[in-house]
Amino acid sequence: MNDVKRAMDVYLNGLRNQHAVETQAIGTIQNELPRMEAYPDLHAKMKADHERSVTQAARLDDLLAKHGSKKSLLKEAVTGTVATVAGFAHAAAGDEVLKNVLAAIGFKAYEISSYKVLITLADASGASDDKSVLEQSMKEEQEMGDWLGSHLPSFVQGYLAQKSA
Ligand SMILES: [Fe+2]
Repeated sequence: MNDVKRAMDVYLNGLRNQHAVETQAIGTIQNELPRMEAYPDLHAKMKADHERSVTQAARLDDLLAKHGSKKSLLKEAVTGTVATVAGFAHAAAGDEVLKNVLAAIGFKAYEISSYKVLITLADASGASDDKSVLEQSMKEEQEMGDWLGSHLPSFVQGYLAQKSA
């Protein structure tokens, strides 16, 4: 196996992993959305991020299909992961929304780095054509991560206001 082929193997595996990450994001957001209704801005943004994650997962699906990977197996994985994530629904603790936002910021940082890795692997595999799609997803993750980080103080204010109501 030559270096480019070996890099392609690593790249395809990376695309599959990122597809699983996006699928997890979709399930987690679905699960958390009902508890974010007291925070309308956050709720709207998370809803948009849910739709974006579906698009991002579809982009990864398309890239895998382009390189000859089977799509149907991935679709099955989607359903399975969402069901698993939904199983973690608990009664909401008071500060759970804040904890979820912190987790989401960490998750976005992970996704930004994952896309950076995939972009590097695309180059090494001779798949530079894939880069613009991956860069688009990375930009979206960055935008969401920045939005969450910059709005964190207002979520804390909202939480305090709710507590004293
Ligand atoms: Fe994502």
